[in-house]
Amino acid sequence: MDVRVRAAKQIQGSVRTAGDKSVSHRYAMLAGIAEGTSEFENFSSSADCASTLGCMEAMGARVRRKGNHVEVDGVAGVLQAPERQLDCGNSGSTMRMLSGVVAAQPFTSVMIGDASLSKRPMRRVIDPLQKMGAKIDSHDGCAPLTIHGAKLKAMEYEPPVASAQVKSCVLLAGLFAEGETTVIEPVRTRDHTELALRAFGAEVTRDGNRVSVRGGQKLHAVKAYVPGDLSSVTFFLCAAALFPGSKLVVDSVLLNPTRSVVLDVLAGMGVKIDFLKVEEQYGELVGTMQAEGGIFQGGEIRGAQSAALIDELPAIAAIAPYSARGVEIRDAAELRVKESDRIAAVVHNLRAMGAEVEEFPDGMRIPGGQTLRGGRVQSFDDHRIAMAFAVAALRAEGDTIIHGAEAVAVSFPEFFDALSGVVK
Ligand code: S3P
Repeated sequence: MDVRVRAAKQIQGSVRTAGDKSVSHRYAMLAGIAEGTSEFENFSSSADCASTLGCMEAMGARVRRKGNHVEVDGVAGVLQAPERQLDCGNSGSTMRMLSGVVAAQPFTSVMIGDASLSKRPMRRVIDPLQKMGAKIDSHDGCAPLTIHGAKLKAMEYEPPVASAQVKSCVLLAGLFAEGETTVIEPVRTRDHTELALRAFGAEVTRDGNRVSVRGGQKLHAVKAYVPGDLSSVTFFLCAAALFPGSKLVVDSVLLNPTRSVVLDVLAGMGVKIDFLKVEEQYGELVGTMQAEGGIFQGGEIRGAQSAALIDELPAIAAIAPYSARGVEIRDAAELRVKESDRIAAVVHNLRAMGAEVEEFPDGMRIPGGQTLRGGRVQSFDDHRIAMAFAVAALRAEGDTIIHGAEAVAVSFPEFFDALSGVVK
């Protein structure tokens, strides 16, 4: 699908997004395992989280869904051998995190994904799960994964990459293993799994970068509201950043500190962000904020900041040419193994719009003060690339056509409607 985006003059109004994708995945998995019926309001509308719900159903959980209201009857710890392959669609989170659960079951399951997911690296979860005692056949380290579940042994594991998905995979496997499993993170990553495990009644301990869970703990159902998706909201904050004087109110959004680094970075680059209300639910912060566009300065993003901002980097890079000082992103090689090679994709699209950009193996440098022209850009079948360039198009000269724009449904099906609602 092609979508045409016209240049805008201002961003004004309010946005509220469906529930956070990362949180919804975890709630869906744990609700499926738990005893009792869990109920979620504002569950993510993403195709990715629908993949997770589908996998849990295939293993015996019952799911009832009316829009963003989702109820899950859990299996009280006893999952059924799936009669079909576990289809993870485009979702790396589903495949990587759920592999930890299925590796601990007394059956064999086959996890499959779409063309993009079938190219993404899975050794990062295969290695630790095999160390715990599972046997996994893969296609040269990629999906399909045939996971022969086993009685797992707890272990202490230090992942070589900073990845919340890998940490979560090992902790979820640890929930079913004998003994206490510990993950030592090289860099602190999003902690939704730890918070969700506690919400469902498990004890999880943290000491610095060491997180531990004891095997054999039972989970109970919860009723929860899923805070709005901050990574989806980032596209709107970036749109506001492009127009001095723009004003945006964002309602009920996730403000978990392991995710909100993007707010510090955008504030440092010139977006004024005020918090109007902050509350906590099951350890997750949720609040209302107001963002105002000023002079968009740009700046450098590197080291641990790149890891913390990994999902938000495409949006920041796409608007970088309009910044005053330019943007340099380094230490972000992980971007190359996301739903697309996001460094190559951003560089390709920026050049298609006439921008100057320098590409590095681990990032890019984008000079500021540039004028872009509308043109034809590609989503590369990657939701975040489609949305990033819809935002970049708002300040280009002339219209921009986003080719493959249907990819937005992977995380944010309502994106184009929501954007139309605030563009003036
Ligand atoms: C996610 C972790 C990140 C992120 C992904 C969601 C999660 O991936 O990019 O979109 O929900 O845990 P990595 O763990 O591979 O960094």
